[in-house]
Amino acid sequence: MPDHSGIEDAGRHLRAGGLVAFPTETVYGLGADATSPEAVARIFSAKGRPRFNPLIAHVADYAMASAEAVFTAEAETLRSLFWPGPLTLVLPRRVTGSVCDLACAGLGSIGLRMPAHPVAQAVLRAAGRPVAAPSANRSGAVSPTTAAHVEADLGDRVDLILDGGPCKHGIESTIVSCIDSVPVLLRPGAISRATLEDAIGPFGRPGQGIVAPGMLQSHYAPRASLRLNALNLGAGEVGLDFAGQLGAPTDLSASGDLEAAAANLYRMLRSLDNGVAGTIAVAVIPETGLGEAINDRLKRAAAPRRGADNPS
Ligand code: TXA
Ligand code: MG
Repeated sequence: MPDHSGIEDAGRHLRAGGLVAFPTETVYGLGADATSPEAVARIFSAKGRPRFNPLIAHVADYAMASAEAVFTAEAETLRSLFWPGPLTLVLPRRVTGSVCDLACAGLGSIGLRMPAHPVAQAVLRAAGRPVAAPSANRSGAVSPTTAAHVEADLGDRVDLILDGGPCKHGIESTIVSCIDSVPVLLRPGAISRATLEDAIGPFGRPGQGIVAPGMLQSHYAPRASLRLNALNLGAGEVGLDFAGQLGAPTDLSASGDLEAAAANLYRMLRSLDNGVAGTIAVAVIPETGLGEAINDRLKRAAAPRRGADNPS
């Protein structure tokens, strides 16, 4: 855990327009002052991320959030139940908000998240303003769940990396749009669909144009190719197992626990993607609970590569 001076340094770098990587309960974020277009531009260039893809603004508290966006009734319910935590709300943006256009990719909406991780919270308080933070990986690569992953991907491009140990959830926040009267699930993530639907009822179908622009097909891509729903290991393949189905040494959760599997997913993908294996064969993961988010990321990791316009 970073000490007090590490947090102070982070606040100083952020206020000066620098880039600070910090742990959250989902994955490590690459943070910059969300109110400064120059600072936000550094995120896009460090990651090689396309600028049409908006960033999530991270906030320290509800006062900071409500200065940026209008909270609909459903958004109020969701934030009262799940903030701080791994839930991002896409909301109508206030014209009086402080987050810059570049962070929002010029949209009339904004993605807001109040992280629960104590280091993230301390960083946000030290910055004293919203912090734009995508996952701290090169665009299109697997998201980082340890400080060492960030160091390997972006070490030469950031001013400071705060080490808070491995991330608890290991998979990104769930993104819900509250732009329409019925909320829409834009990205499955660390809070399951069922948990959210228990709170607010069934999600609506995505309306025209309401998508997370970052959800292009190829994403979270390792160098090796992926074969999904594998029932056995082919010649030359390494296995990413679940509940011992393949008998492979690397198992997301030998006991079949989907939360543990989510927490292990990116770390295990990285370790199997060592340049030796041509293909990673992935066992069947049930679609229930966090399985929806795990399968979403695996499908994107297995999709044909799009080259330079890989997002996020
Ligand atoms: O868990 C997380 O959410 C992590 C940690 C660091 O907080 N962050 C993260 O950020 O996953 P990123 O940039 O990798 O993914 C953000 C996603 C993108 O797919 C982007 O298109 C979507 O959020 N997004 C952001 N603002 C949006 C908006 N106004 N409308 C629709 N989608 C939005
Ligand atoms: Mg990302």
